[in-house]
Amino acid sequence: MVREIIKLERISKFYRMGDSRVDALRELSLTIHENDYMAIFGPSGSGKSTLLHMMGLLDVPSSGSVFVDGKDVSQLQENELARIRGKKVGFIFQVFNLVPSLTALENVALPMMIYDVPQREREKRAEDLLASLDMGDRLNHLPSELSGGQRQRVAIARSLANNPEVILADEPTGNLDSKTGEEVVDIFNDLHRKGKTLVVVTHDPDIARNTDEIVRIKDGQIVEHEISKEHSIRANGGMELVGGIKSRINEKLGVKTGMKQKVK
Ligand SMILES: Nc1ncnc2c1ncn2[C@@H]1O[C@H](COP(=O)(O)OP(=O)(O)OP(=O)(O)O)[C@@H](O)[C@H]1O
Ligand SMILES: [Mg+2]
Repeated sequence: MVREIIKLERISKFYRMGDSRVDALRELSLTIHENDYMAIFGPSGSGKSTLLHMMGLLDVPSSGSVFVDGKDVSQLQENELARIRGKKVGFIFQVFNLVPSLTALENVALPMMIYDVPQREREKRAEDLLASLDMGDRLNHLPSELSGGQRQRVAIARSLANNPEVILADEPTGNLDSKTGEEVVDIFNDLHRKGKTLVVVTHDPDIARNTDEIVRIKDGQIVEHEISKEHSIRANGGMELVGGIKSRINEKLGVKTGMKQKVK
C-alpha cells in the first residue's frame, strides 16, 4: 500500500462576516499519498487556497480532522503544528512571499533556523539548492534585483530548505510569462521524479497535463477527481488489478460518495 501522508477527513471551514457566514470548505475529504502529483482546479473563491492551507497546517478547520502520518493533529497547539509543518511541507505562493531585505541565499536559509541548523550548514545547503535551480550566480541578489522567474526559483529553493516530503504550491505560475512558467513546470516534474509529493493549485493547463491526478473543487466541495491509469497502476505496485485500482480510487475519494469519478 502507498503510505498516506496527509489525510483530510470531512473538513469544513467557515468564516463569520458580521451576520453572514462564508462556507469556504464543506465536508471535504482528500488524502495525499507518498509521491502523489496532484493538481487542484476550481473557480475563484471555490476554496482552493483554503484547502491548501488546511493540508499545510497553516490554518485549522472549523470541523473535521486532519491527519499527518496517521496522527490526528486537529487538537495540537500552534507551536507543535509549526514544527510538523516546517519539516513536512514546503509552500510556494503565487506572489513569492520572499523577505525583501534578505538576499536569495538568506531567504532560502531562513526556514532552517527553527531547527537550529548551524549557520555554515544553512548557507551551504541554501547555496546548493539555489545552484540546483540555476541560481548559483544570483546568491547575493535581493528579491527586487531578480526577475519574476528567478524569484519563483528562490521561493522553490526555500520550500525545499528543510527537505520536506510535500510541496504545496498555490498558483506558482500565475505571475509568470508562459516560458518562465514552463521552466517552473519542468522543476516540478523533476521534483516529482526525485520522489517529492506535490499538490499544485493552478489554472495552468500545462501543469495539469503533467500531474497524475486532477481534483476539481466548486463551492468548497470536490466535484471531480481524475486519476491517471498509469498512476493507479504504479500505486498498486505495478500490477494492473482492476479491483486494486478501484479500491485506490475509492480510498482517494474518501468518505464522499456520489461524485463523478474518472480514470484517464
Ligand atoms: N479570512 C477570510 N475571511 C473571510 N472569508 C474568507 C477568508 N478567506 C477566504 N474567505 C472566503 O472563502 C472562500 C474561499 O476562498 P479561497 O481563498 O480559498 O478561494 P480560492 O479558490 O483560492 O480563490 P482564488 O482562485 O481567487 O484564489 C471565498 O469566498 C473567500 O471570500
Ligand atoms: Mg486562492
